[in-house]
Amino acid sequence: MKPAFTSQQFPLEPIEKASIDELRALQLKRLKATLQQAYANSPVYRAKFDAAGVHPDDCKSLADLAKFPFTTKADLRDSYPFGMLAKPREQCVRIHASSGTTGKPTVVAYTQNDIDTWANVVARSIRAAGARRGDMVHVSYGYGLFTGGLGAHYGAERLGLTVIPFGGGQTERQVQLIQDFKPDLIMVTPSYMLAIADEFERLGLSAAESSLRLGIFGAEPWTNDMRRAIEQRCGIDAVDIYGLSEVMGPGVASECVETKDGPTIWEDHFYPEIIHPETGEPVADGEMGELVFTSLTKEALPIIRYRTRDLTRLLPGTARTMRRMEKITGRSDDMMIVRGVNVFPSQIEEYILKRPELAPHYQCVLTREGPMDNLTVVVETRPGIDPDASAARAAAQALQHDVKMFVGTSIGVTLKAEGGVERSQGKAKRVVDLRSLK
Ligand code: DLL
Repeated sequence: MKPAFTSQQFPLEPIEKASIDELRALQLKRLKATLQQAYANSPVYRAKFDAAGVHPDDCKSLADLAKFPFTTKADLRDSYPFGMLAKPREQCVRIHASSGTTGKPTVVAYTQNDIDTWANVVARSIRAAGARRGDMVHVSYGYGLFTGGLGAHYGAERLGLTVIPFGGGQTERQVQLIQDFKPDLIMVTPSYMLAIADEFERLGLSAAESSLRLGIFGAEPWTNDMRRAIEQRCGIDAVDIYGLSEVMGPGVASECVETKDGPTIWEDHFYPEIIHPETGEPVADGEMGELVFTSLTKEALPIIRYRTRDLTRLLPGTARTMRRMEKITGRSDDMMIVRGVNVFPSQIEEYILKRPELAPHYQCVLTREGPMDNLTVVVETRPGIDPDASAARAAAQALQHDVKMFVGTSIGVTLKAEGGVERSQGKAKRVVDLRSLK
């Protein structure tokens, strides 16, 4: 039995215990400064504000932020690589980039103060996840231009933990080092955690019996059913860390282990809004929509009303006064429209996880026959279960039935034996769109 723990072993920062009024006052002060700085130092923001007929002086309250124009990935691409910086490139100490699916990568940059802020919010996230003094952290997020590896790394070091900077890949060696070094925490994408757990079993070992006590998972959508599956299989607490490179990297929001009820947004640095994805109008807290962030302390690349394309809603604080976001189960880019019904991979995941014969390794393959879109879910059976066995076929039928019944669309199901679905070593590719190939 792994020892129980509390998340309070490192003291909270004062702002984590501040009242909502104190927090809002700090946010307004920082927002005004950010808008001024963006306008004064970034020609791209100046042009956007001028075109929209707004000036930083128009921001008198937090609600006034809605008068300012959005920033999108296209703005960053159009100013590739360094056109949006509000500081001379020479004052930046780090560059990251996200590859995206098409075209040029999105480039972001950080001053030394930005790197410090980032390390602090990731340290805060790891603490909220339940880390204790003396813990050792195995980092399996990729190092490099992706923000996951270095973001996790600096945060864990800032908290004073011992870091194993493994990065992605070499799964057998990951398991070997976990066995030898005995880390307490792992930071990795949830889909790659599953591949690591599989590797434990392939080697005749059990992830549940490893030294790991806690996993901090993010960089891709994953459901609460997936959380329970990973927790059970690996004998750990699994918490959700959220972030995106355009806003900072991992650690924009992160879950508190005592509640596991959606990531707390570190609102003293990142101001959240939810907007209607089509009209762009702000919606009230509690309503679903697209998540938009404005940075409140960033220097090199202040980001004003960045449209994340992630769909969620804002919820009141629980373990902290700061607001939470509902665990993200879809981003608008991953939404499939199948015969008129909107479907997210996470909805399929939920029903796969209900079937003990099926493994949580899956992809949604879209094809087109004439005017009709077809969705085929390619999913593995559990190790030892033959995809042709009657129990497996019954599970596939049950999956089809559940998705038809509860999601509202017909799907095909293709069963594969263990290893038949491509394993991710980072973000899993859940949607394979073959429609344009026809
Ligand atoms: O994925 C940063 C990160 C690294 C977050 C490690 C957490 C852990 P990007 O590569 O720019 O940055 O991708 C950002 O990934 O807009 C979401 O769609 C998705 N995403 C990130 N975290 C979560 C999460 C990193 N916890 C994009 N749940 C975001 C769901 C997530 N989706």
